[in-house]
Amino acid sequence: MSAAVNEPTLSPQTVAELHAIAARYPEPRSGLLPMLHLVQSVAGRITPEGIETCAEILGISTADVSGVATFYTMYKRKPVGDYLVGVCTNTLCAVMGGDAIFERLKDHLDIGNDETTADGAVTLEHVECNAACDYAPVMMVNWEFMDNMTPSSAVELVDDLRAGKEVTSTRGPRICTWREAERVLAGFPDGRVDEGPGAGHASLVGLALAREHGWTAPDPGSRESTGRTKDRPGGSGGSADTKQEAAAQADTSRAETETRQEEGKNE
Ligand code: FES
Repeated sequence: MSAAVNEPTLSPQTVAELHAIAARYPEPRSGLLPMLHLVQSVAGRITPEGIETCAEILGISTADVSGVATFYTMYKRKPVGDYLVGVCTNTLCAVMGGDAIFERLKDHLDIGNDETTADGAVTLEHVECNAACDYAPVMMVNWEFMDNMTPSSAVELVDDLRAGKEVTSTRGPRICTWREAERVLAGFPDGRVDEGPGAGHASLVGLALAREHGWTAPDPGSRESTGRTKDRPGGSGGSADTKQEAAAQADTSRAETETRQEEGKNE
């Protein structure tokens, strides 16, 4: 039997949920992103049927839906395994070991980027910065963080996932399947939102330092406060640095005026 024949179709319940998502927004079209996540939660990928159904519900073209589904990397056109394992190979994670982790996992799983193991358990992909650089190198499993990873801990992680063991993120939450995570992204909570901390120690170091030194955030309404605060050593509204910045700003404005005048002459 071909893969297409085995593809799950959208049940009446799923279609009703797609309608419910669209109805959440003043502009139904705004619901397209979570609708596509719901399609992935039941079909394992963005299927032609899913695209047509979303287009029909929203009254837009299938080309409009396809354009969105092919633009964002969280939408998959190929079937995804039970666990979507991402390795951050952006600059900081890469130099901290992300590249080595990715190479080790490719070897260990015998798959390349954006490929799935033969048992359908793990899809591997390299991902861009997850805004978790303070825990580099990081990995994601179904969008849950795995912090401070090493090639060895990465291998242990995928082995545990493939063995069906319960795995928790290094920040606490239990790892669910990719389809379950997709349903949450569609706006159907699984009741586990409070598992794990709001922010980890490394992310809060800057805040602790600011408190220790009495630093405060600059007032966005005050030009003088941008860049440094009165309380910070070496910084004040009338400092030499501030005067130099003002002089540089004046130079820039003067140069822009001269450029505009020059362009006017040449027209
Ligand atoms: S570079 Fe990996 S999380 Fe930022």
